[in-house]
Amino acid sequence: MKYSRVKGTRDILPHESYKWLYIGDKIREFALLNNFSYIKTPAFEVTELFVRGIGNETDIVSKEMYTFLDKSKTSITLKPEMTAPVIRAYIQNNLEQMSAVMRVYYIDALFRQEKPQKGRLRQFHQYGFEIIGTPYPEADAEIIVLSYTILKSLGLDDLSVKINSIGNRRTRKAYLELLRENIAPCKNDLCPTCQTRFSRNVLRIFDCKNQKCQELLDEHAPRIIDHISDEDKEHFSLVLKLLDIAGVSYQIDHKLVRGLDYYTRTTFEITSPLLGSQDALCGGGRYDYLVEDLGGKPTPAVGVAGGIERLLIALEEAGKIPVTDSNLVYIVSIGEKAREYGFRLSWELRDQNIPCEFDTLRRSPKAQMRDAGRKKAKYVVIVGEDELKRNKVILRDMSKSYQEEIGLNLLIPTLKQKISSV
Ligand code: HAM
Repeated sequence: MKYSRVKGTRDILPHESYKWLYIGDKIREFALLNNFSYIKTPAFEVTELFVRGIGNETDIVSKEMYTFLDKSKTSITLKPEMTAPVIRAYIQNNLEQMSAVMRVYYIDALFRQEKPQKGRLRQFHQYGFEIIGTPYPEADAEIIVLSYTILKSLGLDDLSVKINSIGNRRTRKAYLELLRENIAPCKNDLCPTCQTRFSRNVLRIFDCKNQKCQELLDEHAPRIIDHISDEDKEHFSLVLKLLDIAGVSYQIDHKLVRGLDYYTRTTFEITSPLLGSQDALCGGGRYDYLVEDLGGKPTPAVGVAGGIERLLIALEEAGKIPVTDSNLVYIVSIGEKAREYGFRLSWELRDQNIPCEFDTLRRSPKAQMRDAGRKKAKYVVIVGEDELKRNKVILRDMSKSYQEEIGLNLLIPTLKQKISSV
């Protein structure tokens, strides 16, 4: 019996994993540069966290969660996003006492039972940044500029930054009533899901991918931005001003509400034409009520998350994934004594931070050389019994197909010098 991976999941295989590590390294570099600290939460949480946090009528909660009862009959959900778990950890661990503003980042695996397609998986990975504890537009702008800078620095052009403000909950109530009034006459023309959304959570109609629903919204929906408070307008215009200062161009997208209920004020997404229909590389916004909704003290916050699989697709399309150039040294040994010596030598090299592999299949010298070539070793050290008797080994530079006999005492200094001069 052979097993296959579950639909909508992927293996990250040894020959491609360097791409993942490359992206992870870049994210960590930016996190360090911007002083965000790493946070990791469990793979699953109690279901209620996501129901309260993301909202009952969102697609994620109503259709996509992997939810099950564990043996103690507790309803558990594999995390479909990171913001609610991060805030749960923030509240539970009293992180507000550590710093007035908490800046955290994550790289994690998430689970949503969506219909798999290009750029949409059931287990996928996100990187993300959250700034918890400040209501000011500088934080919104920092998150957006950071998101944009990461994508740019990875080599992506032609990015669209879409931004909107959906105001606060107080003004939202009046807006939603107005929205419902305006849409009511054409309610029956909406798709069945949106008809349910109409009565349960009308804002979620904006998330609908159905062309007809979108057209009806274009025709009948009042713009949210015209119905937010003066403070929210002021906040939004300051965010835009800071983006101008940072030189990040943007388009205001009046329908951008994003598919999670926790957003207030700023919402944004960055899209790329390299992606096809699932074109959002990252998205986020402000969520000023989530901490109190989840049982903490009122604490404003803003953040972003980006899909790593989507980022990989875009980088591959753009030809922007660098080929790794390793400094691997492969030790080829000829004969039993030489094998023991080679084994010891491999640890001496590693002790000196020289990356090294030593054959563990007892292969013929020719097969070892072939393996070294396949693994793209930069240097091969050939340990033969005759040479050993004279305290020598052969050092072969694979890129130049050149080799020389070298004294054992000179091997490590020579390799170190060659590697550091690359
Ligand atoms: P989201 O828009 O649901 O937001 O997801 C963020 C990003 O994750 C998307 O833009 C996309 O790149 C990627 N993504 C989402 N679903 C999938 C999937 N099924 N397969 C592959 N990639 C996917 C959030 O998750 C919010 N927590 C973002 C946030 C952080 N808001 C504030 N802080």
